[in-house]
Amino acid sequence: MDKNFYITTPIYYPSAKPHMGHAYSSIVADFFARFKRIDGFDVNFLTGTDEHGLKIQRAAEKEGLDTLKFCNEISKTFRDLSKTLNLTNTDFIRTTEGRHKKSVQSLWNELKKNDDIYLSKYSGWYSVSDEAFYAEDEIEEINGKKFAKSSNSTVEWVDEESYFFKLSKWEKPLLDYYKKNPNFILPLSRKNEVISFVKNGLKDLSISRKSFSWGIPVPDNKDHVIYVWLDALTNYISALNYPDTKNKMYKKFWPASVHLIGKDILRFHAVYWPAFLLAANLPLPKKIYGHGWILSGEEKMSKSKGNILDPLEIINQYGLDPLRYYLIKEVSFGNDGNISQERLIDCINSDLANNFGNLCQRVTAFAIKNCEGKIPKKINFQNDDLKILDKFKNNLDLIRDKIDEQDLNFYIDFIINTLFETNKYFNDQEPWNKKNDILRLNTIVYTTLEIVRKISFMLYPIIPESSIKALKIFSINEDSIKFSSLENHNYLKGNDKIKKIDILFKKIEKNYD
Ligand code: MSP
Repeated sequence: MDKNFYITTPIYYPSAKPHMGHAYSSIVADFFARFKRIDGFDVNFLTGTDEHGLKIQRAAEKEGLDTLKFCNEISKTFRDLSKTLNLTNTDFIRTTEGRHKKSVQSLWNELKKNDDIYLSKYSGWYSVSDEAFYAEDEIEEINGKKFAKSSNSTVEWVDEESYFFKLSKWEKPLLDYYKKNPNFILPLSRKNEVISFVKNGLKDLSISRKSFSWGIPVPDNKDHVIYVWLDALTNYISALNYPDTKNKMYKKFWPASVHLIGKDILRFHAVYWPAFLLAANLPLPKKIYGHGWILSGEEKMSKSKGNILDPLEIINQYGLDPLRYYLIKEVSFGNDGNISQERLIDCINSDLANNFGNLCQRVTAFAIKNCEGKIPKKINFQNDDLKILDKFKNNLDLIRDKIDEQDLNFYIDFIINTLFETNKYFNDQEPWNKKNDILRLNTIVYTTLEIVRKISFMLYPIIPESSIKALKIFSINEDSIKFSSLENHNYLKGNDKIKKIDILFKKIEKNYD
């Protein structure tokens, strides 16, 4: 079985500071990367910044800065955010790097060689904010101004010489591909959207611009720069050293396992990117997953709407793991989700502090007092104990399958339900009333500790720092976190010392003024 896993986030525009939407894509990608790693996969996890095009050029002009200098500054804030979010990305790519430029120009040459590029003229609408061309029927006029219907961004008229990619030629092969690979685009609603877009007919795509210079030059015609989306999408292979398709990284990790993206950039990833790859005779990524939007006050966050939630402010106030947990739990994966500080506080108090944190504290305090601070050695599982322990053992493959379908909701529900059951189990078993039956008392404590261990393993991809802290109870370190060990009911060794740990999550008072 292929034990390599390659996941990517979109590469972000460094036109403004990162916001919660960017943090969301990255945190979710990190979840999958960490899960796969603890399940024995060799993981390549790529993120980065998308630095060319008119949008960036104009943003730099507005600040009165040299474009590259401007990109250097903002790209750094994204790189720093990766650290702040505790991402385990293995690479961070910038499209202004030499390795990327080489790769994009090689792909261009390949498309040209295969007769998929021709020179003509583009006359039509363009949105700088989306870096997208729009057809007449995708535009609406409000108060004399033209907007793209799908994104509400303003469009401007472009009339210039341009190279075109023969996208129309790939309409049928793409539809065949979607049919043959039913999980290529997920969730289902997004797949249907893409199929109906392609079925409506694909027009050839303008893939160069002449009226500005901030981009990668077209080989053999320096008057043109390559369209920023052809440039940006190539990052997924330039990070694997394309055009060298014989090198270890490329051979190991291409095709990518998942391109995780927001639904706003589905067309680029599910139509244009596969068409470019088909035209270049390169394998297609295994999956494009388009997640929903994080909404703030029921609207998509954007600079122009002024409703941006700053991840750094939230992290400073509540900590990173609560934010990671909250985003993963609260936003039903694949759909849009509204977030608020009030719900974040509820989540910290009920799930993290009450359910998980409290369970860890209670059982360790009890064991320290009643089991000489050691993992009980003599135990004898009964049905009540096995019922809850078996839940893990019996569901390992199901959990793996769900992860491969990106069913994050299943994963988090499994954890929450098990936490409830375990708290209930500990209460119902009343180990404090079993002081005359040490074997039973020991077995209840062992079972509960074993579940704390298992849940901490499962929580690791979501709240890594807190999971590592909780595992200090057993002196288990990060390297020992293995998903397959959830099968084992007797992982904890009798007589090993139990350590008291600090409170994992502090409860937060709500401020109602
Ligand atoms: N540069 C392009 C992507 C190129 S990928 C080859 C781009 N950048 S972006 O910075 O505008 O946004 C990138 C991604 O950030 C979105 O696709 C989405 O994954 C995420 N989000 C941005 N705003 C978002 C929300 N409000 N909610 C959730 N995610 C959103 O597009």
